[in-house]
Amino acid sequence: MLPGHATPVGTARYRERFPKLRDASHFRRPEHVPGAGELWLSSIGFGTYLGEPDDAADQNYTEAIAAAVRSGVNVLDTAINYRHQRSERNIDAALRQLVSAGEFQRDEVFVGTKAGYLSFDGNLPSDPRAYFMREYVEPGILDPKQLAGGMHCMAPAYLENQIERSRQNLGLETIDLFYVHNPESQLADVSRDEFHHRLKDAFAMLEKQVKAGKLRFYGMATWNGFRVPETAHEYINLFEVAELAREAGGDAHHFRFLQLPFNLAMPEACGLANQGSGKEKMSLLAAATRLGIAVVGSATLYQGRLTHGLPEFVGRTLGMKSDAESAIQFARSAPGLTTSLIGMGHKEHVASNLKAAQVPPTATEEWKKLFTQG
Ligand SMILES: NC(=O)c1ccc[n+]([C@@H]2O[C@H](COP(=O)([O-])OP(=O)(O)OC[C@H]3O[C@@H](n4cnc5c(N)ncnc54)[C@H](OP(=O)(O)O)[C@@H]3O)[C@@H](O)[C@H]2O)c1
Repeated sequence: MLPGHATPVGTARYRERFPKLRDASHFRRPEHVPGAGELWLSSIGFGTYLGEPDDAADQNYTEAIAAAVRSGVNVLDTAINYRHQRSERNIDAALRQLVSAGEFQRDEVFVGTKAGYLSFDGNLPSDPRAYFMREYVEPGILDPKQLAGGMHCMAPAYLENQIERSRQNLGLETIDLFYVHNPESQLADVSRDEFHHRLKDAFAMLEKQVKAGKLRFYGMATWNGFRVPETAHEYINLFEVAELAREAGGDAHHFRFLQLPFNLAMPEACGLANQGSGKEKMSLLAAATRLGIAVVGSATLYQGRLTHGLPEFVGRTLGMKSDAESAIQFARSAPGLTTSLIGMGHKEHVASNLKAAQVPPTATEEWKKLFTQG
């Protein structure tokens, strides 16, 4: 396994390799985040969710990941369940190739993964239930009573097992960032008290993993949790979650990143004041800044839907040529967002999407006009 992790020195070295992107403010430091504030992270990150779980897609992903790292993307995002663990293994193949050729070093790249869903291994087994019994229940890794919705588990022993598998899949001694994956899905099944109890137990285990050098930071990756009104059953309050992390790890806890969709069709992190403590209400991005947590945006292209058919004023306001570039520029210009993830199973998309990184993010005053025009 590759030793090390992303460091301030390594990510600064990486940034210096791309002077044009550096000068266009493509790399950011999440300065408000304890322990991570000195890391230079690319404004565009590489996502690995979509695509078939087959050899052809593996080949394409491995090439695209290597192309992305060679082009100025040093934030890689995956999850153990993505394409049945194949996406993690594609990151390993690409990084191994780049590091062994002496092109890049481990400390230049920031790799995040996730767990929580039940994960298969390489392919969908013919009898998924038998697979889970054999792989997880019989060895005592997972108690079926801990499952929510028949498919989600954030019990410490299960997450710990998934982290070990992810370290092997990624070929990394230390994973830079581990997210509890879509924890809000549990709120359909369990009370909010039980949800908080489960999260705190998970965080206590994750703090131990950080101490053991297996992780650097942890957080949660969500779909609806931070984008819905406070009355919704899937709603998550970041202040409450940060308090659970403080109880688990003290003031120097390592809950320092969160992920949620952020794109032209899903701008709630900025536009919806659904976070707060007491009477003070604020957006998720403002809350995360206050709490020393970095925000990573997912689904930057709304899973491909924003690459065509955008109203003309969007491109005009952002000064971009294509709809895909406008969608990327919108996300990476959001005040307070560190990195916007784009799924790129094909290296041609890496080349075209990196064009947006060659221009500085849109000034906030101009950017805000998108919320009032149209
Ligand atoms: N809850 C969560 O934790 C969560 C949820 C969703 C996403 N994520 C993360 O965020 C990442 C990004 O989101 P996503 O992959 O779901 O969606 P996305 O980035 O919005 O869109 C990815 C899709 O857009 C296509 N694409 C990329 N560049 C393009 C271009 N220039 N022109 C036309 N099509 C283009 C990709 O095609 P190719 O693949 O063919 O290149 C892929 O089909 C994920 O990969 C994942 O890492 C996390």
